[in-house]
Amino acid sequence: MDAQSIYVTALKNTHAIEMQALQIMERQVERLEHYPEMEAALRRHIEETHGQRTRLEEALQSLGDSPSALKEGFLGFVGNMMALGHTPAQDEILKNSYANHAFENFEIAAYESLLTIGEVAGQSGHLSAFQQSLSEEQAMAQTVRELIKPTTRRYLELSLAGAKADR
Ligand SMILES: [Fe+2]
Repeated sequence: MDAQSIYVTALKNTHAIEMQALQIMERQVERLEHYPEMEAALRRHIEETHGQRTRLEEALQSLGDSPSALKEGFLGFVGNMMALGHTPAQDEILKNSYANHAFENFEIAAYESLLTIGEVAGQSGHLSAFQQSLSEEQAMAQTVRELIKPTTRRYLELSLAGAKADR
C-alpha cells in the first residue's frame, strides 16, 4: 500500500459522498414547500456540490483514474439517517434538518482527511481546490446549524395553527 493508492481511494470515496449529497439535496429541494430559507440554502449548495464533484473528477483524471460506484454500506449510519427523511412523516422537515447537519459534518471530515492524505501523497497541486470544497462544506454546515431553531419554530407555528408543516 502506497500513499498514492490511498489517495486515489480517498478521492473515489469523497466523490461517492458528493454523488450521494446531490441525490439527497435534489430530492429534498423538490419536496420543500414551506421552508424557503432551507430551500434556498440547498439550491445554493447543490450548485457548489456540482463544482466539488468536478474538482474530484479532475484530480482522478490527472492520475489516470476515474470515479467508481458507491460501495454498498459505505455511508453506514449516515445513510440510515438520510432514509429517515425519505419516509413521509409529519415532521419530515425536522428529520431532514438533523440529517443535513450530520451529512455536512460528515463531508467536512472527509475533506480534512482527503487533504491530509493528499499532502502525504505529494499532491500539493490539488490541495487548494479541496480546501475550497472544505470551506464550502463548513459554510453549509454552519448555515444548516443556524437554520435548526428558526425551522423548528416555523414547524411549531404551522403545526399549532393546524396548517401543513411537514415539508
Ligand atoms: Fe456539502
